[in-house]
Amino acid sequence: MMIADPRSEAVPAVPGHTPEHRTPEHRALEHRARHFRGSLGRFATGVAIVTFDGASRRHGITVNSFTSVSMDPPLVLVSIARIAKAHDELAGRPFAVNILGAEQRQLAMHFAGRPGPDPLWVEGETAPRLSNVLAYFECKPWAAYDGGDHTLYIGEVVDFNYRNGDALAFANSTFTTIPESQLGMEDLL
Ligand SMILES: Cc1cc2nc3c(=O)[nH]c(=O)nc-3n(C[C@H](O)[C@H](O)[C@H](O)COP(=O)(O)O)c2cc1C
Repeated sequence: MMIADPRSEAVPAVPGHTPEHRTPEHRALEHRARHFRGSLGRFATGVAIVTFDGASRRHGITVNSFTSVSMDPPLVLVSIARIAKAHDELAGRPFAVNILGAEQRQLAMHFAGRPGPDPLWVEGETAPRLSNVLAYFECKPWAAYDGGDHTLYIGEVVDFNYRNGDALAFANSTFTTIPESQLGMEDLL
């Protein structure tokens, strides 16, 4: 999934062409990329952080590409940019997906390249995860698929839990809150 990142309002210039050398064709490509990103951003999502221990260090990366995939076996998916520092080390490693609550915007930004105070970690059975998140899924690696400039990492869920509370959401390049409702629609799923 292409992601909407609030840091990247400016669309990168076409490789090999400095801004002053951009032709109308390049500007049209940039406009299309911005339009594509803006269109994708109309799809409201939750916000999650993928955490795992890599060979060199502990990683965390904020994502909104989290998707449930399968009930039996229980599988979930995250799409990680090839250029992300976490990308290569995630291959073949257990990981946790931490779903954020409404009050955890700072945590989302911490793992999106805007470091804040050190987060509180929980040493999970399968992978390190973050304290007091709205829900978590500890996963064993299941598969990885080519997703263009991203890789689709699928994990088999081996442990999970959730707490009550409002959810952190992301739409139109902005964080927002989805209040916890009294009555869900689990019966429709
Ligand atoms: C709300 C939000 C959602 C994001 N979703 C994704 C995503 O699904 N996949 C991804 O690779 N990066 C996503 N990012 C961007 C990464 O969090 C960001 O690029 C990260 O800092 C990359 O890590 P690095 O700087 O260590 O390489 C998202 C960022 C934000 C703020």
